[in-house]
Amino acid sequence: MQEFVNGRERWATRIGLILAMAGNAVGLGNFLRFPVQAAENGGGAFMIPYIIAFLIIGIPLMWIEWAIGRYGGYHGHGTTPAIFHLLWRNKFSKVIGVFGLWIPLVVIIYYLYIESWTLGYALKFLIGLVPTPTGEGSPEEYMKPFKEFLESYVGSGDEFITPSLYAYIMFLITALINIAILIRGISKGIETFARFAMPTLFFLAVILVVRVFTLETENGSAIEGLGFLWNPDFSKLLDPAVWIAASGQIFFTLSLGFGAIITYASYIKKNQDITLSGLTASTLNETAEVILGGSLAIPAAVAFFGVANAVAIAQSGAFNLGFISLPAIFVNMPAGTFLGFLWFFLLFFAGLTSSIALMQPLIAFFEDEFGMSRKASVLSTVGIVFFSAHLVIFLNRSLDEMDFWAGTIGVVFFGLLEMVIFMWIFGGERAWEEINRGGIIKVPRVYYYVMRYITPLFLIVLLFTWAKEYVPSILAETHWTVWVTRFFLVGLFLFLTLMVFLADKKKKEAGVE
Ligand code: PHE
Repeated sequence: MQEFVNGRERWATRIGLILAMAGNAVGLGNFLRFPVQAAENGGGAFMIPYIIAFLIIGIPLMWIEWAIGRYGGYHGHGTTPAIFHLLWRNKFSKVIGVFGLWIPLVVIIYYLYIESWTLGYALKFLIGLVPTPTGEGSPEEYMKPFKEFLESYVGSGDEFITPSLYAYIMFLITALINIAILIRGISKGIETFARFAMPTLFFLAVILVVRVFTLETENGSAIEGLGFLWNPDFSKLLDPAVWIAASGQIFFTLSLGFGAIITYASYIKKNQDITLSGLTASTLNETAEVILGGSLAIPAAVAFFGVANAVAIAQSGAFNLGFISLPAIFVNMPAGTFLGFLWFFLLFFAGLTSSIALMQPLIAFFEDEFGMSRKASVLSTVGIVFFSAHLVIFLNRSLDEMDFWAGTIGVVFFGLLEMVIFMWIFGGERAWEEINRGGIIKVPRVYYYVMRYITPLFLIVLLFTWAKEYVPSILAETHWTVWVTRFFLVGLFLFLTLMVFLADKKKKEAGVE
């Protein structure tokens, strides 16, 4: 049953809302990004900052985004240009709000492409069209056929990349699958899909974890991989890079600072609980990340190749653990290609429930602010994404550049702005009431101070530390492909800003504010 309040749809059920939100958060970040971040930052050194970041960034910002979104929703808006303006009556607030459209748009441009690899790989593994690893030799030799497999899939080249035709077709199909879900709307499309996909995803992940932990090799066992992840290394706590990486992972995995949670939350009913539901969705994400995501790629690689090699693999490229080493390990086991299929299918489902969440802000913007139909909004959004993705598909360094500006830095910056606007400009006590209204649990009062002081301060320190570490190398970058991407990103921002002003003008002419 579809429900509408003031012309906007609402989530039909609480469980559906929680699963949709969990689907939003649980994504490629949990199974691909987390293991790489953890391995690169020394395993045990990573987990303490990670847990602290979850408690002082993840949880408070999650409640804030749910509250901001629900507040916007009952005023008829699902995206931050309009919502920030509700919270802060100032012309400037709309422009700041553009980041809440720009970030998810930039991220979905490359996210959708990576998601399509997982579909392409899943199908290849299903029909058994995969390389066989060479029996003995060093890890590099052993994985070589899989490395070549990945290279021939996505293509290679220093400036221009030529992917396989298969990869391109898979990308097209992935875009169409996203359309098929999104076009059905919030409750019939996103919610219904999440209710099916999330249990399936957890089930697949558990099967694979069990398989990894029954793995025994000469080099060790998966248990040692867990040891690597869970033996705290306090000496690294003074290294700012580890804190930056851990906090960045918390933003990415919980979808915070993207505007995507805010848009989903705008379809919550005015007096419906957000405190317990927000906490539940976050907990589901952390379970999927730390328990499941942390028990696949790293433990398998450690068991098979030893700790040092596993770390080296993670450092050699963001996709090597997931697309090269893990499938190479699976294929060596009984029913290995099928296990590989399960792994990529798991990734595809994880990716899909997230990519629809990354598309929804722009869709909601077209619907809410331009009064466009759902169909037109979905097709325009996916069209823009599909078109823009050609940059990522064919131009080297473009993907990393987008991930850096939007998915790494942009989110921290935007998360800070959200907190300041809500907890300071809108007002601490009002915000606190807004968060707790209808709540099944009451947020402990200490979080009031965390939200107002501790997290913003922490984020400011993070941004400064980060700037000190990275700005010199950013400015020193000279490669033209990087600059083309940067110009494109600026252009995209200007385009969205223009759209925000056009929407305003249109509404004024129609006599509504
Ligand atoms: N949280 C998702 C992941 O871990 C990424 C994402 C960010 C999805 C923002 C939606 C919105 O992969």
